[in-house]
Amino acid sequence: MGAAVSVREARKTYPGGVEALAGVSFDLSPGTFAALLGPSGCGKSTLLHLLGALEKPTSGSVAVDGHDLAALSEAARDDYRLRRAATVFQLYNLLPTMTALENVALPLLLDGLPRPEAEARAEKGLAEVGLSARKDAFPYELSGGQMQRVAVARALAPRPALLLADEPTGSLDSRSGAQVLDLVGELVAARGVTVVLATHDAAAAGRASRVLRLLDGRLVDG
Ligand SMILES: Nc1ncnc2c1ncn2[C@@H]1O[C@H](COP(=O)(O)OP(=O)(O)O)[C@@H](O)[C@H]1O
Ligand SMILES: [Mg+2]
Repeated sequence: MGAAVSVREARKTYPGGVEALAGVSFDLSPGTFAALLGPSGCGKSTLLHLLGALEKPTSGSVAVDGHDLAALSEAARDDYRLRRAATVFQLYNLLPTMTALENVALPLLLDGLPRPEAEARAEKGLAEVGLSARKDAFPYELSGGQMQRVAVARALAPRPALLLADEPTGSLDSRSGAQVLDLVGELVAARGVTVVLATHDAAAAGRASRVLRLLDGRLVDG
């Protein structure tokens, strides 16, 4: 089941006075595939950091399934990051000394799953992104598109309710990028995961069921 997201007048001012978010409000019902579209510097990553509970808003609130993320205890926040909200980054962030399988199994091991079960689930996840044959490959042996598919499998392995993707196709050629977005679209639809995809690419945003346009830290016709 996907997460319900509710953002109310969220502001984020960084030390030095940069107002990255100038009061943003929106709601996402569970299972929505939303794109956060806007040029570099408009506040997309900042908003994803708030949704991922990596940072707190300066004022306003960000709630997931009715829980204000800023009010969570440290343990609840760790739990949220590990089990409820997963992130895919532009530069894959795979661990270079681990194989594809080990990378996907890692969050499950951190969550306390016994290794055989974690690896069985990781194998399944790699199969879903079409990479069973490459499970023992190290990241440097994979193409960019393949690395991002491993990162998608890793993000979805803990069965999160919310998937946050920050310019996930920003380092890929258009064909590999389209393939990654196709996969993400299929996998999240099958599981009902709520997605927030940050992108400056209108074509990528076109795959979303809801487009939130961000400009200078504000939503425009969102
Ligand atoms: N940690 C930070 N400290 C100071 N300013 C920041 C920080 N992170 C982002 N900013 C500034 O906030 C604004 C929004 O940045 P960001 O959210 O990264 O935008 P986007 O992801 O859309 O490119 C930019 O002006 C950026 O320079
Ligand atoms: Mg960014």
